[in-house]
Amino acid sequence: EKQYEFILTSRPADGVALITLNRPKALNALCTPLFNELNEAVKAFDNDDSVRALVLTGSERAFAAGADIKEMKDKEFSEVFKGKFLESWSLLTTIRKPIIAAVSGYALGGGCELALMCDIILASPTATFGQPEINIGVIPGGGGSQRLAHAIGKSRTMEIVLTGRNFSAQEAADWGMVSRVVPAEEGSVVDAAVKMAAVIASKSQIAVQAGKEVVNAAYEQSLQEGLRYERRVFHSLFATKDQKEGMSAFAEKRKPTWTHS
Ligand code: CAA
Repeated sequence: EKQYEFILTSRPADGVALITLNRPKALNALCTPLFNELNEAVKAFDNDDSVRALVLTGSERAFAAGADIKEMKDKEFSEVFKGKFLESWSLLTTIRKPIIAAVSGYALGGGCELALMCDIILASPTATFGQPEINIGVIPGGGGSQRLAHAIGKSRTMEIVLTGRNFSAQEAADWGMVSRVVPAEEGSVVDAAVKMAAVIASKSQIAVQAGKEVVNAAYEQSLQEGLRYERRVFHSLFATKDQKEGMSAFAEKRKPTWTHS
């Protein structure tokens, strides 16, 4: 694996890549060099055929405490505007492979937004989410106002964005933003995310990637357009070997062997 300064990468299970944010001194504050490394690793794994699902995590104490406030504090409008500050963060949302966020500790500001850019969020009971930008005189800039509104609704998003208060793993689960809080007795949230990623990695990858694409369409287009799109993509899977294999295996009462083709 390539060595990075602010992230660690590994392959904890067959078909699964794990990216660990590793800037402990700043609670994984998302400075530009860290994000550049994250984007590089994500792109490399997306292009690597042996990787079929990704997990993104931080430390026990912090998934990520937000954009780097010290890096931002002296920036001027013209600089952030012309430099398209934060635009590169969205690369994560353009990859085809599913990515699971395993969140422990602080996921604040850009950290919460980073989790929201992932396809599935699993939380440890210690996870603390929030968009505290209002407390430093700004608003979310990495998609928080939009993705949070989609995830938890307008009234809660307004409360979170305008008061800057944090919310707990349990609240995030009750509101449907995280798929599950992994209880401490079940082991670490990272292990649970890797296990889930391994299940996803064991499926036909064309179907997995198509599934991700059509679910995302539900957040980007009208219901009618989305339904039509889903059906078209569903039809297109009948051109794959994995559709023939999957359905034949069912009929023959055996396990399918995917060729991802
Ligand atoms: N940027 C830069 N440095 C940060 C940071 C951030 N977002 N969050 C934490 N750090 C640094 C602290 O400055 C501190 O560094 P020093 O030891 O050099 O002083 C170190 O990490 C440890 O942090 P604390 O001493 O503050 O730890 P704590 O346990 O007392 O508090 C915390 C933890 C509540 C998360 C607190 O650090 C905090 O409030 N952080 C900022 C959270 C925040 O406002 N995030 C939003 C950023 S703006 C944004 O993200 C914009 C966007 O939409 C993209």
